Amino acid sequence: MKPRVLVTRHVYPAAIAMLQERCVVDYVDSRDVMDAERLARKLSLAQGVVCQLTDPLTADVIAQAPALKVISQVAVGYDNVDVAAASARRIVVTNTPGVLTEATADLTFALLLAAARRLPTAERFLREGRWQRWEVDLLCGRDVHGQTLGIVGFGRIGQAVARRAKGFGMRVVYASRRPAPDDVAAGLGARHVPLDLLLKESDFVSLHVPLTDDTRHLISVPQLCAMKRGAILINTSRGPVVDERALAAALDEGLLGGAALDVFEREPEITPELLQRDDVVLLPHVGSAVTSVRSLMCALAARDCDAVLHGERPQHPVNPEVLV
Ligand code: DGY
Repeated sequence: MKPRVLVTRHVYPAAIAMLQERCVVDYVDSRDVMDAERLARKLSLAQGVVCQLTDPLTADVIAQAPALKVISQVAVGYDNVDVAAASARRIVVTNTPGVLTEATADLTFALLLAAARRLPTAERFLREGRWQRWEVDLLCGRDVHGQTLGIVGFGRIGQAVARRAKGFGMRVVYASRRPAPDDVAAGLGARHVPLDLLLKESDFVSLHVPLTDDTRHLISVPQLCAMKRGAILINTSRGPVVDERALAAALDEGLLGGAALDVFEREPEITPELLQRDDVVLLPHVGSAVTSVRSLMCALAARDCDAVLHGERPQHPVNPEVLV
């Protein structure tokens, strides 16, 4: 009998076609977010689920899915999945790293440049018909080259951001639990430093850590106070890594020069004080939003779900210990 797979939300069609070859697919082709109650109901017979970061795969929901064998997340981050609860039931959890690295690093750099050179403000100025003439001090921003970029979290995406920074003539320091191998750091011209030093030295701070109990509010009042005066904070990781209220207050007090955010604590809600500021660039969680990348992410999640359900090894298990 073919295994049953729930696909919780709209995905690229090739992923559904691929799953349908060997599975019975319950495809919720909707852009709505499923709440925990509906998700649990839909999961009651499923052996696999292809899910997204808006789906609450909590311990409680997992407990209501007695047949579940695999949770395949269409994202690299999987903080919406209770991996411990899944592992306790030997449910495999998979994600989609790698395919989105360069796109996310590009977007990070786009945010850095947009904040440094005040691009959204300049564009608004023009569209509102306020541009009269060239002026020597019109909409001046700040340098990028020669500045120091502090990268917090030095995995695939952090390193890809460092490669871009090198091309822009920036100095790069990074903080991470484990230093990168010497040849990798040397190739990127990146120096490993403790977080407090990174915050003190960096003109731009870019966050690339997963959301865990350790990284929730990693950037809060003490860290914002420790940052170099006028520095710009960039976040393309997960919203709750930054204490948004503390960030708004730090901007208000003039401690920072600005912020560029693709992710938020309570998406899609944005702290109102941030919405009103001209020195903050705001994007709706589009770090990996490139058509080819997003379709690869869907395909990867579908393939890994199908693999587990047919006794094959998935490409990207996040809890590989349950496979042995
Ligand atoms: C991820 O993959 O975790 C992003 O946030 C969405 O691409």
